Amino acid sequence: MAATASLERASSTPVLYETMEALNQRAHAVMERLRATVFAPDAQKTLDVRFAIGKAAEMVGRTTEAIRQAEADGRLPAPRLTATGRREGYTLADVNAMRDLFGTRPGRADSDPPLVIAVQNFKGGVGKSTLVCHLAQSLALKGYRVAVLDCDSQASTTTVFGFNPDADIDDDETLLPFFRHGDQTDLRYAMRPTAWPGIDLLPANLGLYNAEYEAAARVRGNPKDFDRLRHGVEDLMRDYDVVLLDPPPALGMISLAVLRAANALLIPTPPSTVDFASTSHFLRMAVETIEVLDDRLGAKAFNFVKVVATKVDEAKSAHVQIREMMQSVFGAEMLRASLLDSAEIDNANVQLRTVYEMSSNSKTHERCRNNLDLLNDEVELLIRKSWPSHRQALRQSGVA
Ligand SMILES: Nc1ncnc2c1ncn2[C@@H]1O[C@H](COP(=O)(O)OP(=O)(O)OP(=O)(O)O)[C@@H](O)[C@H]1O
Ligand SMILES: [Mg+2]
Repeated sequence: MAATASLERASSTPVLYETMEALNQRAHAVMERLRATVFAPDAQKTLDVRFAIGKAAEMVGRTTEAIRQAEADGRLPAPRLTATGRREGYTLADVNAMRDLFGTRPGRADSDPPLVIAVQNFKGGVGKSTLVCHLAQSLALKGYRVAVLDCDSQASTTTVFGFNPDADIDDDETLLPFFRHGDQTDLRYAMRPTAWPGIDLLPANLGLYNAEYEAAARVRGNPKDFDRLRHGVEDLMRDYDVVLLDPPPALGMISLAVLRAANALLIPTPPSTVDFASTSHFLRMAVETIEVLDDRLGAKAFNFVKVVATKVDEAKSAHVQIREMMQSVFGAEMLRASLLDSAEIDNANVQLRTVYEMSSNSKTHERCRNNLDLLNDEVELLIRKSWPSHRQALRQSGVA
């Protein structure tokens, strides 16, 4: 009885604004402490990944002898050595310098259209940002130039790339001024380098949400607003091989602008009935809005649209069954690889990292990494198939 009474009292006591603000302050302090431990000493994220010469040779597409020879004759800098005289291991920047020397950077030819991939579903928590971050880093490891546009005011992707959306990012450094001021078309004002060579980020913070309100007040009857991001991205993408768009989990102005800006779509869908239903709604709404916007703004096509099964636990029979159902429903429009549910993604997340930023010999890590590689390689192939200059090489190697 006493417990019931206290519960009743608790539920009838209004939660004051000050209480919520105090909770916010506490949560903020926890994030700051976490960042201070993870990114010590100067709260700047650095990339702490090194590659042994054998791995570097594989990434560059040359032999270890070719690398040693280039170091010996001064075409590459001498390798850094540890205190005990061993090679320290190469950074991704070192590997990219080797690629540049040997001419083995894999990017697109100037005549190839850059890919603008939206990882989109109106459902929250389906793995959009996880896919965006790992795909961006997998492409960067291969030597591609990648732009990541965080279009979500929750800013998970911005956080994973090492920025504190509350402290490091001003509203003016997000997409907000771009959406607010109708005259701007250049997105470069907000692109910033990340700790990852080859990846630039356009960050988000909570202020970006204002773009939705302002658009709701303004946009009625002016569909051109939905195409502004597309124009900005079309200009920006000349600097990159691939542009990745991480939209918010809602059907609003920004999500629609992302749909218009993208020329390829990945639709993450966990294998549950409600998530499948959400994807089906997403497809219906996407088709309806694309039709309306195409009518008013001109038709546009996607290079590929693929459903990706995410957070799949193959030990659960329901997951396996629903994934099979998804495969039969979506057929060739579903990626062959799934993103498996993995404790390693959570482990990385706790440290504000991705799996590609973790070094571990554990079986869990290795399994997760192999799974991510399989999925990202499949997406890379789709990207390369859309580039005419790559098609012949792909045909010759029997993959296209
Ligand atoms: N394959 C996976 N295995 C384990 N955890 C995962 C996996 N994919 C995503 N997660 C976790 O699920 C949560 C939601 O993932 P994520 O932020 O990528 O989803 P989202 O679709 O971007 O969410 P939102 O709609 O809020 O933007 C995160 O905590 C993430 O670490
Ligand atoms: Mg997200």
